[in-house]
Order: sequence, then structure tokens, then C-alpha cells
Amino acid sequence: PSGLLADSLGRPLRDLRISVTDRCNFRCVYCMPKEVFDKDYRYLPHTDLLSFEEITRLASVFVAHGVDKVRLTGGEPLLRKNLEKLIAMLAELKTPDGRALDLTLTTNGSLLTKKAQALKDAGLTRVSVSLDSLDDATFRRMNDVDFPVTDVLAGIEAAERVGLGPVKVNMVVKKGMNDGEILPMARHFHGSGVILRFIEYMDVGASNGWKMDEVMPSADVVKRIDEAMPLEAIAPNYTGETAERWRYLDGGGEIGVISSVTQAFCQDCTRARLSTEGKLYTCLFASQGHDLRALLRGGHSDEEISGALAHLWQARSDRYSELRTSQTEATARRKIEMSYIGG
Ligand code: GTP
Ligand code: 5AD
Ligand code: SF4
Ligand code: SF4
Repeated sequence: PSGLLADSLGRPLRDLRISVTDRCNFRCVYCMPKEVFDKDYRYLPHTDLLSFEEITRLASVFVAHGVDKVRLTGGEPLLRKNLEKLIAMLAELKTPDGRALDLTLTTNGSLLTKKAQALKDAGLTRVSVSLDSLDDATFRRMNDVDFPVTDVLAGIEAAERVGLGPVKVNMVVKKGMNDGEILPMARHFHGSGVILRFIEYMDVGASNGWKMDEVMPSADVVKRIDEAMPLEAIAPNYTGETAERWRYLDGGGEIGVISSVTQAFCQDCTRARLSTEGKLYTCLFASQGHDLRALLRGGHSDEEISGALAHLWQARSDRYSELRTSQTEATARRKIEMSYIGG
């Protein structure tokens, strides 16, 4: 069986986000704090990872059900060996009406200078790069592995040079840590063609010690930028877009704000997430996944896997961000880590 699906709240399946590794060379304070992700942390063993063939086979089942946008995430996806091979395999998939996929990647940019050309050649459409500060000391403090900001900026330039643009830059704003960088970042990317997006710090996972008062509401971000460089709201590119878009009145391009805490966007959430070990998560904040690898390795046919996927999506009712309360910080429910499932 194939064909379009809707979940229990009427939301179609459009995006598939595939995590290709649970490892990262950064230790961002809001994602993989050092105290938790230390040398004793148990990452997934190699045999647990889906192979490129397994990933591609699953992806083709998703595509038959309406997915036309695939994003590779991690951890840091560029740490997965021969990633360009997987990209080349995914680039061959076509939607039922014959279109190529929007095939993209979320990276911390540390290996981008070296890999941009190979990624482009393999068929990647574009990239999003995480960057939380232009100030080198602040950036090193946030990635917590002393990684210099100049290398990430060089990676962004390399991506644009090889045609992976327009590059989106994602900045997680953590109050008291990098909110002083909002204006410098906006000024730096104003007029550059890069689309800078400010992300509200979220209570993902269970190790970042999230507190509501460390969240900088997007409305405040927009206000601060608008006072320096006037903005106007613009329409979304597509329904269910995570970012709310704003344009500079002087023609200096656009920015976005992703407000999952103060203005949840679950209503139109069309995203499915596949973990490195082949579990399907129907929400970023789910505590449990559905083991698709067991189906793959249990000798089930594509038709059977397709039927299972249809069943799971049709039962989906997740809308965590809409239900979140400021009490979340105190709840004990086990949530998956961002480094495990990707942004
Ligand atoms: P585009 O295709 O470029 O529009 O990308 P995107 O909007 O999917 O954005 P991206 O994948 O770069 O995600 C940016 C950030 O938005 C992520 O790192 C998350 O912090 C947040 N985000 C993305 N999807 C979701 C979601 O489904 N729920 C919540 N709560 N946050 C999300
Ligand atoms: N809140 C918001 N975004 C987060 N990311 C990771 N952890 C968090 C969090 N706690 C996002 C970063 C990065 C992507 C991989 O995940 O923006 O770009
Ligand atoms: Fe790594 Fe990205 Fe998490 Fe930072 S946010 S630790 S770069 S996966
Ligand atoms: Fe989608 Fe869950 Fe995020 Fe809501 S919280 S937008 S349902 S992933």
C-alpha cells in the first residue's frame, strides 16, 4: 500500500528527518552537556546503526506515502563515514509524481569546508548550519570544546560557493548566555544572502537542565532587531513551516524565528523522525519510538513496512509543544535527547 496519509489530527506526512549518528564533536551546553556526555557515555554500537541500504529502503517507503523533503541530522551528520554515498542514494528517490526530493542537512559546520563540494556533487540540495555566536569566546563556551568561530564561518562560505545556498543559519538563544549576540549576528548576516533563524531554547531531552526563564521569547528577538533595522512580517513558504519569516525593509534579506515554546506550531507538524538505530518517532518530544529496524531485519516486505508506517502515522496524535507548561522542567517523563534524534 502507498498513498497519502493523514494522522489523527489531519496532518499529512511530508518531512522525514533521518539521524545518521548519535555522536558529535561539539558539546553544546543546551544539547550535549559535558557532565552527561562524558567519556563514559554509551553511544550506539555500530551494529545497531541502520546501513545506508536500510535507510534508503525505509526512505523510499516514506516517499511513497507523501514525504518530499528529507533532512539528515545527527548528532553531527558529517561524522558518519561516507555520508556522501548515502546522499547519492537518497538523491535518486523520486516522489510518486516524479519530482526530486528536497534533500538537506543540519550541521554544526565544523567539517563543512572540507566536505561541501563532495556533498553538493552527491546531490544535496542545501544545508542549515548551527551557529550561536560570532564572538569567539562566547562561541567556544557554548560549543564547550573550544572550537573557533572562524572555521564555521569558513564552512558557511564554502557551502555557498559550491551552490548549497541559500544557507540557513540556526542560532539557539539562551538568555544570559548569548542573547547579547542577537544584534551582532543580525548585522553580520544582513545583506549576505544567508537566512538567519533564531530558535527558542527548548526543553528537549532530559540532560540540559532547561528552565523557562532562560528562554528568550521570539517576540523580544524581533523587537530588538526591528529597533535597529526595521522589519516586516512575510508569508510562510509552505504550511507547517517552523520559522516565522521577517524581511528587512531596506532590502537586506530575511530572518526567521522558531518559537516552539511561546508559539507552538504542532497544528501543522508534518515531521517524522527516524533515529540512527531505525526507530520512528512521531514527535521531537516523544519518549518512545517504533522499531522499524526490526521489520527490516525480520525479513518483512516493503508492502508490510508500508502498512506498518501507515498504521503508525494514522494513529499519531502528538502535540507536545502545545501541551507544554512551565512545569515541564519538573516532570520526570523520559524524553529522547536531541543528539539522538536530531533537530
Ligand atoms: P527548512 O526546511 O529550511 O525550513 O528547515 P526547518 O524549518 O525544518 O528547520 P531546521 O530543520 O533547520 O530546524 C530548525 C530548528 O527548529 C531545529 O533545530 C529545532 O530546534 C526546531 N524544530 C524543527 N522541527 C521541529 C519540530 O517539529 N518541533 C519543535 N518543537 N521544534 C522543531
Ligand atoms: N533547544 C532548541 N534547539 C536545539 N537544538 C539542539 N538542542 C536544542 C534545544 N535545547 C538545535 C540546534 C541545532 C540543531 C541540531 O538542534 O539549533 O541547530
Ligand atoms: Fe552537536 Fe548540534 Fe547538539 Fe551542538 S546542537 S552538541 S553541534 S548535535
Ligand atoms: Fe511536531 Fe512534536 Fe514539535 Fe509539536 S512538538 S511541532 S508535534 S515535533
